[in-house]
Amino acid sequence: MDKEELKRRAAAQALEHVRDGMKLGLGTGSTAKHFVELLGERVRAGLNVVGVPTSEATRADAERCGIRLTTLDEIDHLDLTVDGADEVDGHLDLIKGGGGALLREKIVAAASDRMIVIADESKLVGALGRFPLPIEVIPFGLGATRRALQNAFTAAGCDGELKLRPGKDGHAFVTDGGHWILDAQLGRIPDAPRLAQLLSMIPGVVEHGLFVGMASTVVLAGADGIRTIERA
Ligand code: A5P
Repeated sequence: MDKEELKRRAAAQALEHVRDGMKLGLGTGSTAKHFVELLGERVRAGLNVVGVPTSEATRADAERCGIRLTTLDEIDHLDLTVDGADEVDGHLDLIKGGGGALLREKIVAAASDRMIVIADESKLVGALGRFPLPIEVIPFGLGATRRALQNAFTAAGCDGELKLRPGKDGHAFVTDGGHWILDAQLGRIPDAPRLAQLLSMIPGVVEHGLFVGMASTVVLAGADGIRTIERA
């Protein structure tokens, strides 16, 4: 089956969890975009929800779909966030940020009572790390930050190259928050919670793409149907 169709099916399944009056976090990426489009159809049919987008791209999509938007300054919490992921492991820990929106995605997910991750089944892995781990950094002192990151990898039992994510016209990719992204090619992360903790302690790191203990439910769409994994 076509991958886009699988992503749309996972998004449609997550929509079943949306209730009238909910405050929703709206994720970023191609799978989350399907969710936003399907949600927009329900809104145009009368569903009353309000959303907080996790990127400028999702803001534009949600506005185009007629979804009412708010901010985390105007409301104090979200009922549910629905977002995609680059990798999901058996503990429901994630790598996110392939689209560069990890900082806002993590802020929104942390402000939510529940986070549902939607993906096609190829995103489920035995151990995180084959997908390069995005790390959002401050441009100032990049060399020092790189060295601190390599030390953190060693302390967490992994190793790998750090590549500055390229943007347009030979410049670095710039996030919605005005930062850069280093993609860490680690191959395998033996202890994601430990690495997450170490990365969070580095001054030049704004945020990293390890989402540990945040997803409550993962909805995976495959050729054989939908599989839902709930956090124990
Ligand atoms: C955006 O920054 C990411 O975290 C996305 O959620 C992730 O890359 C999944 O994107 P796709 O649904 O496009 O695979």
